[in-house]
Amino acid sequence: MSAQIIDGKAFAARLRARIGEQVVPFRAAAGRAPGLAVVLVGEDPASAVYVRSKGKATRAAGMESFEHRLPADVGQDALLALIDTLNADPAVDGILVQLPLPAQIDERAVTTRIDPDKDVDGFHPVNAGRLATGIDGFVPCTPYGCLMLLKDVLGDLSGLDAVVIGRSNIVGKPMAQLLIGESCTVTVAHSRTRDLASVVARADIVVAAVGRPELVRGEWLKPGACVIDVGINRTETGLVGDVDFAGAMSVAGAVTPVPGGVGPMTIACLLRNTLLSAQRREG
Ligand code: GUN
Repeated sequence: MSAQIIDGKAFAARLRARIGEQVVPFRAAAGRAPGLAVVLVGEDPASAVYVRSKGKATRAAGMESFEHRLPADVGQDALLALIDTLNADPAVDGILVQLPLPAQIDERAVTTRIDPDKDVDGFHPVNAGRLATGIDGFVPCTPYGCLMLLKDVLGDLSGLDAVVIGRSNIVGKPMAQLLIGESCTVTVAHSRTRDLASVVARADIVVAAVGRPELVRGEWLKPGACVIDVGINRTETGLVGDVDFAGAMSVAGAVTPVPGGVGPMTIACLLRNTLLSAQRREG
């Protein structure tokens, strides 16, 4: 038996189209487009690709994209001053500073400087706290995209056993919070977990976000499990996820591919958060 391949690319395209449809009445009522400011520091080629695709998707959805490029050796004060300007700019609904940042800049100082009500990445501690306590805020885009795919495949998640592999602030922790919010029984595994295979074996839902190529073996999985692979690992044999895709395909019920699974959902959720911010700020 072969698992369903979860087509994140197609799902994200439909989501972007729906957001574009909602932008039309927003523009008519507000007399302006929702605006997303993206800040890129330095010349990291992967980050430059992400920033370009974010700008393109933003414009395609009928929103305004403000791109700010700063040199790799920019001082922290200059970056914080730019964030202050964007916080105060009424045309800017969302602010995203592309990570990682150069070593001279303290990432935490940057994420905490962004107005929590423009924090479309959902990285500000205020938004992490809102998510943890069930208050409306901004949810980080990648885990939110994973949740949308899970609900599309499984419907109601209530009572299911979920394992999140990885405990980062950007994916693992917010993913666990979202799954708790859906009434799953959630285990967070990580690099120190003793017997990952047996933890994975009881999971109806596996979300892998550790950045270790093909760590999760197909034979570990519970038959029929839904597997969401957040990993993007460049190896000698090309791009692979955190899950052994071929092995998973013969045991799981549904699996996201890499690429074409979770990746496209992140940008679509960024647009969703930007529209949400614009609607809240005008409302
Ligand atoms: N770098 C890689 N992914 C992301 C993301 O989702 N947001 C930001 N700000 N930087 C990233």
